[in-house]
Amino acid sequence: MQSQIGEKLPTILTIYQKMNAEKDLPTLLDLVAQEAMRLIEADRASVFLLDREKQELWSIATLDGEQIRFDARLGLAGAAAMTGQTINVEDAYKDPRFYRKIDGRTGYRTRSLLVVPLRNQEEEIIGTFQVLNKKGGTFNKDDEGILEALAAHLATAIETAQLVEELKLHRKQLLDENTQLRREVEGRFSTQNIIGSSPQIQNIVRLIEQISDSSVNVLIAGESGTGKELVAKAIHYNSSRVSGQFLALNCAAIPESLVESELFGIEKGVATGVERRAGKFEEVNGGTLFLDEIGDLSLSAQAKILRVLQEGVIERVGGRKAIPVDVRILAATNKDLEAEIQKGNFRKDLYYRLKVIHIQMPALREIPEDIPLLANYFLEKYCREMKKEPKKIAAGTLRNLMNYSWPGNVRELENEMKRLVVLTQRRLITEEDLSEIIRNSDNKKMPLLLMPVLSLKKAVVELEKHLILEALQTHQQNQRQTAKALGLSRYGLIKKMKRYGIKQN
Ligand SMILES: Nc1ncnc2c1ncn2[C@@H]1O[C@H](COP(=O)(O)OP(=O)(O)OP(=O)(O)O)[C@@H](O)[C@H]1O
Ligand SMILES: [Mg+2]
Repeated sequence: MQSQIGEKLPTILTIYQKMNAEKDLPTLLDLVAQEAMRLIEADRASVFLLDREKQELWSIATLDGEQIRFDARLGLAGAAAMTGQTINVEDAYKDPRFYRKIDGRTGYRTRSLLVVPLRNQEEEIIGTFQVLNKKGGTFNKDDEGILEALAAHLATAIETAQLVEELKLHRKQLLDENTQLRREVEGRFSTQNIIGSSPQIQNIVRLIEQISDSSVNVLIAGESGTGKELVAKAIHYNSSRVSGQFLALNCAAIPESLVESELFGIEKGVATGVERRAGKFEEVNGGTLFLDEIGDLSLSAQAKILRVLQEGVIERVGGRKAIPVDVRILAATNKDLEAEIQKGNFRKDLYYRLKVIHIQMPALREIPEDIPLLANYFLEKYCREMKKEPKKIAAGTLRNLMNYSWPGNVRELENEMKRLVVLTQRRLITEEDLSEIIRNSDNKKMPLLLMPVLSLKKAVVELEKHLILEALQTHQQNQRQTAKALGLSRYGLIKKMKRYGIKQN
């Protein structure tokens, strides 16, 4: 008899192409089973995959939609999987290896059976491919050849489909994780986390919400620890740029010679050994760049930032090409920029470009009414984080907190609350728990209140003492700055401190 393989070769090639195109595993297996059935003129066809760990063969879905799973050491399919050989039997029931239970379970009556192993490119057996009940007879050598040829290609197609499936799953997991993280971050930086019922803070919160949909530049000014970065993040995470990045860059922390390459990138070969590198503006394209301490930028870096704001392009250091960027700039400063302009340290035109919206963060001492709210907020937050029982601050102690001048602003208050959560065992926080400098703040304001009942001379002494203590605190115990603020020479300050018995901590 003449071989039919040659005649069937075009069909086999077409099936290969179909297999290559199909990346969904169940559809692939279904397709191959149907094609094999037709080509070999079998009554049924199924693919079993080998589960190595469990030593089981299983089918994703046979043509009638039923899933089968069985011990890989049983049956003719099992034998093909274990030995790696093609098995062709004319009457399955006469073969001792035949596993009759499957017929029993499905109600099917197997007569002739041809099964081949599926081998991947590493020659590992990954399953079996079988056809049942040849129409009008038994499977011949040609059928074996065709099924083996299909199986060889199928193994690769299965592995590709499995890989694609894994990648899809992985991608979905990453996306889910990403969405989850983004929600958490957005929650953490929503305006709800800007605490304060004072008109100053409420106005800031309202402003952030008003500008959420625009990309206007914002200048955030305020002393250290007043929440400039918190506000910047709230602006970004409330804006339509939320899917872009928020990137903070502290201009004061980068050496002047590196600022420009850090911001705008650098071209290869500008200096020996320099590789081409993108800067923050390119990195954060589509997002928000937070330029902290912008008052510390060199005039030449300021000129380049002005160009970004005016033309929406940057130029790398040593480059000649203008690269378009879409970046929203939020800038922060604790310097008085108008004074810096007077001194020639800051460009006026840049200042006006940046402060399209100007947010002035109040110092904490300007909003004492927010102190109890903030203190309780941090106390609760850190008790929760450190898994401690909730704590409360005694009413009298709140007054100490409100009288203190908080040179480090909200950050200092936050740190004090963190310290209390770590150190105090009792649930009620009282005066003696506070840091000494805060505990003493009450006494320092006292002289002012008591003044009317003191003699003038005594009142002057008390007032002077009070002013020195407060100035020392404001200037972090720096004598030179304190003296300057009080209009004294450093020597004069030291003399007065000695006279009043003021010791520095
Ligand atoms: N109104 C507020 N509500 C809640 N937390 C606040 C508030 N203001 C500031 N904080 C917290 O105080 C800390 C300091 O705030 P932030 O870092 O934003 O200050 P900053 O003005 O950027 O300070 P610096 O100038 O020192 O960089 C942060 O932990 C911040 O979450
Ligand atoms: Mg900051």
